[in-house]
Amino acid sequence: MNRRSPAPFGPEGGTHRRRLLQAIGGLGGLATLPKSWGATGQAFAAASPGEASGEPRLVSIHGSLTEVVYLLEAQHMLVGTDTTSTHPAAASQTPKVGYLRQLSAEGLLSLKPHAVLGTDEAGPPAVLAQLRQAGVPLQLVSVKHRFEDLIEKVKLAGEATRRQSAAQALSADLRKRWQATQQQVARRHAAASGNTGPRVLFIMAHGPAAMLAGTDTGAHAMLSYAGAHNAMTQVQGWRALNAESAVQARPDWIVTTQESVSALGGLPTFWQLPGLALTPAGRQQRVLSFDTMALLGFGPRMPAALQELQQGLS
Ligand code: HEM
Repeated sequence: MNRRSPAPFGPEGGTHRRRLLQAIGGLGGLATLPKSWGATGQAFAAASPGEASGEPRLVSIHGSLTEVVYLLEAQHMLVGTDTTSTHPAAASQTPKVGYLRQLSAEGLLSLKPHAVLGTDEAGPPAVLAQLRQAGVPLQLVSVKHRFEDLIEKVKLAGEATRRQSAAQALSADLRKRWQATQQQVARRHAAASGNTGPRVLFIMAHGPAAMLAGTDTGAHAMLSYAGAHNAMTQVQGWRALNAESAVQARPDWIVTTQESVSALGGLPTFWQLPGLALTPAGRQQRVLSFDTMALLGFGPRMPAALQELQQGLS
């Protein structure tokens, strides 16, 4: 068995911001980040947003945007988040408005947000329509499963929190980290004499059924960025896992999320998913599991997650 995951994130505290930056890091120090960001998150946490403070009341309905708001040290503006907002740990304590694809209109409206930050994955459509009707400004980034999605999220969060210059510095830093990781992928590819990367089956089991990632998914994009081959390119989007598809895919590796492994009750149960034991990956117990939002959220941990993915698969 080969199981890896990005480093765990520390608890909130006086060193909160340093830990956050370490979490997105792995490819350099903090030197590129402005010194004015040195204050801890706790100093901001004391204030509360609203009419009196003149600061915006924000609801984030995507974990990646929540992470960016924290990195901009504007977390005190967050009056609510969705259930994918699990990082940093303090974000789990904010009032919850449901899962981003299954939002609750009542919960969201009761928070009286000035703006709701999310992606166009948000839903269901009826709830979005209800929010728009109630005059809630929905600011949604269009998901293209590209690194540029992250840059757009940083821009959106910078504008919503009125921290544009900090957002620009963060974007520049993320870009640098991303380029460094991409160069690592290119070097590994060259060292392998251009041999095609491993065949990978990406499995996610957060809901009632385990799903396989086809093309047009964040999982497919991350595998491609890592120089690996998605073994399910014949399907578009997510498909229910069945034994035949898994066996025919002949994966060398399985990549999944830690939440999937937990939801299934651990790795021994995970390997009992239909067909997996009959694949090359299953016979060699080759699986990598990652924090879902680090790997698939297209948030600030994206460069570090890509680095871990490509190292894990090499
Ligand atoms: C009730 C539990 C959940 C259900 C029913 C569920 C359902 C789904 C479905 C159906 C998709 C595919 C969407 C599509 O076809 O476009 C999806 C994608 C996704 N879900 Fe969930 N989900 C659940 C919980 C979670 C949780 C807790 C997280 C994060 C911690 C999460 C993160 C994601 C991400 C990041 C994707 C996009 C993956 C990609 O495109 O690569 N989900 N989910």
